[in-house]
Amino acid sequence: MNKVHVLQIGEYPSWDMEALEQNFTLHPYFTAEDKGAFIADCADSIRGVATRGDLGLSRELIEALPNLEIISVYGVGYDAVDLDAARERNIRVTNTPDVLTKDVADFGVAMMLAASRGIIGAEDWVRSGNWSKEGMYPLKTRVFGKRVGILGLGRIGYEIAKRCAAFEMDIAYSDIETKEFAGSFKYIKDPCVLAEHSDYLFVTATGGAATRHIVNGAVIEALGPEGMLLNVSRASNIDEEALLLALENKTLGYAALDVFEGEPNLNSRFLELDNVMLQPHQASGTVDTRKAMGRLVRENLEAYFSGRELLTPVI
Ligand code: 8YV
Repeated sequence: MNKVHVLQIGEYPSWDMEALEQNFTLHPYFTAEDKGAFIADCADSIRGVATRGDLGLSRELIEALPNLEIISVYGVGYDAVDLDAARERNIRVTNTPDVLTKDVADFGVAMMLAASRGIIGAEDWVRSGNWSKEGMYPLKTRVFGKRVGILGLGRIGYEIAKRCAAFEMDIAYSDIETKEFAGSFKYIKDPCVLAEHSDYLFVTATGGAATRHIVNGAVIEALGPEGMLLNVSRASNIDEEALLLALENKTLGYAALDVFEGEPNLNSRFLELDNVMLQPHQASGTVDTRKAMGRLVRENLEAYFSGRELLTPVI
């Protein structure tokens, strides 16, 4: 049987590339120097797209692929896929929820601990010889017992909240409505009021048009010069210009960020700051989780092309 042709938007780990190639003919868009010529060459043959959460698929590309039937996203977030364009053509979209939830939550909490206790700077303190030259490392900020705000109590937000509860933290959350599973976590609908009530504010909203800039200048100001903002969701959830200004003026204490507008080419103003932790969109980046994500990408494509139900459909 002829293999189905799949356009691959971004690279996956080698084990996923090899496994995908067993059942599909891959067209690696990310290696093409002349993207236009590459698409013109293979467009008619493409029935599936394998992409990543951070890359998605634009309307322009969807419209350039006349026989496209399914877009399989390696990632839980699908805000970068033009869902309207997909819907117009009845193109199915899948993602990789659940398998990454706990790693992303672990990573968010790791950023909170590492940033509060200055662990990255402390490593440098030892390696640079400052410990013996200068003496004790500057004192840092306690985490346990502090107030945490979770902006978006979905799967990832809930796992972060559970972990923070183990640190005896006071947990509050904001969402469109109260969540039954939230138990004793306090519901504070207004993100500004939540920020005012928080020492640490985790941004775990889905991303996309509905939550664009939900963390605006007012929310950042409410978090204040002692507060820490942590983002393991999407850069678009935060007004980045307002964030940069607040960090530069120290009206926000600290930001720990795994996602950036225009990543991987982040705004160079971030690099000048000493009150940010900058991470390369790696919250789901463990071998274990990435293998599970890759498997789900393939299983969705295989299910679709053999006429079975999709495992994790978005539309
Ligand atoms: C990326 C993510 O997919 O799950 C998401 O939505 O953004 C990440 O897991 C990952 O960085 C691979 O590009």
